Formats: sequence, C-alpha cells, structure tokens
Amino acid sequence: MLDLIDVNTYYGLSHVLFNISLKVGRGEVVGLLGRNGAGKSTTMKSIMGLVPPKTGTIRFKGEDIACQAPYILFRKGIGYVPDDRRVFADLSVDDNLDIVYGKDCERTKENVYQLFPALAEIKARRAGHLSGGEQQMLTIGRALMGKPELLLLDEPTEGLAPLIVRSLEEQILKLKATGMSILLSEQNVRSALKMVDRVYVIDNGWIRFEGSVSELEADREIMKKYLMV
Ligand SMILES: Nc1ncnc2c1ncn2[C@@H]1O[C@H](COP(=O)(O)OP(=O)(O)OP(=O)(O)O)[C@@H](O)[C@H]1O
Ligand SMILES: [Mg+2]
Repeated sequence: MLDLIDVNTYYGLSHVLFNISLKVGRGEVVGLLGRNGAGKSTTMKSIMGLVPPKTGTIRFKGEDIACQAPYILFRKGIGYVPDDRRVFADLSVDDNLDIVYGKDCERTKENVYQLFPALAEIKARRAGHLSGGEQQMLTIGRALMGKPELLLLDEPTEGLAPLIVRSLEEQILKLKATGMSILLSEQNVRSALKMVDRVYVIDNGWIRFEGSVSELEADREIMKKYLMV
C-alpha cells in the first residue's frame, strides 16, 4: 500500500529525515514510534506532500507519489489526520464533515456515523465546543470522508486523558477491523502497541528498529534508549 525508500527531507538547510525506508501493507496497522522531535510528523508530512522529500521514493499502491499536492493524494485515497486537531470551530460537527470534498458524501457520512456512534450523537454541536477527544474523533471522521485506503494518524492520543485514550484506541481498532491500512505515529508506546501489527522506531530522523510488537518488547535496549519505556 505504502512504500518509502531512502527518503531524505529538509527544512531549509536543516536535514531532518535520513534515508527513511518503511512499508505499510494492505490492511496492516504500522506504528511509527519515537520521542519528541524524532521525525514522526515530518515523515507524515513528507508522505502527504506538505514537506516534500529532497531525495528518495514514496509509492502508494505502486505509484510514485513523492511531491504530489496534498489534495491530490487525498483524492487518490490517502487520509491524513495531522497532530493539531484543527476543526472549523464555528461549524457543527455535521457541517465539518460535509465541507470535505468526499465521494458519495451522504452515504459516506452515514458510514462514518455508524463507525463512530458517539459522533452521531453530537452532530449538531459546534465543533469549537467539543472536548479534545471529541475533536480528535471528528478529525478522524473528516479524513474518512475521502474514503481512504490508507490513513495517516499523527499522535492521535496526545494530550488526552487515559479514559479518552482508551475509547480512541477502540475506535482505531474498529477502523482496523474494516481492513483499513494505517500508519500510526505515537510517543505513547503502551497505547500504540495495543493497536499495531508492526513497528518502526525513529530517532533523530533515523529508523533505529523495525520488527513485530513482540520483537520490540523483547528488545530492552531499544525500548529504553529510544522510547524511554
Ligand atoms: N517547520 C520546521 N522548521 C524547521 N525545523 C523543524 C520544523 N518542524 C520540525 N522541525 C524539526 O524537525 C525535527 C523533527 O520534528 P518532528 O515534528 O517531525 O518530530 P516529531 O517526532 O513529530 O515530534 P513530536 O512528538 O514532538 O510531535 C525536530 O528536530 C524539529 O525541531
Ligand atoms: Mg509530531
């Protein structure tokens, strides 16, 4: 589904991602774990064309997509939930979903509400009045309006209370059950490991580990050195 090969990304002269290679298979949930400033969001932004890589290859379903515009990638089937949870504060939840260019809008929206019944319950509420967890659910719902085959989730649980984190984990597991391919970035290792099939650990712009959840859990040194667990 997604294939990054030797991606190098810069902010101006500052080299931030070094030879990043990673894969997300069809129906697979892959974790990108790392501490503050490790390069998780930059990896997502590189995929999404917001901070295009200087060198390297990015393929989506076999097609080279490096440096294509974000709205094109959205239409091609990549959903992106950035780390900032930005919603249209003055619009209702329902309008926040409607405003997105979507495929079969009404039907897609019904599917989103079916998947997230809690969102349906607050559909008339102003988005600016929602809690952090509700806003996160809305931004995920909004990404789903594009009927993505691949979803990029950038630290969805950041800053949320433990109870809300657990409910969000359940929602993400529901998405996984639909067969969606997901790249999930997290600092919250314990939370991420409940949801992912495979893991990459990123630190200082380098991939330091790649493997299964059990392989990561068995690697005390990586856990301690790069994830502080
Ligand atoms: N717009 C920018 N201009 C210059 N440097 C940036 C910019 N955004 C991020 N960086 C730098 O790039 C590196 C990677 O940042 P990035 O935001 O990708 O990390 P992250 O893993 O998402 O961290 P966090 O967990 O804090 O969100 C950091 O050193 C950061 O300071
Ligand atoms: Mg980030």
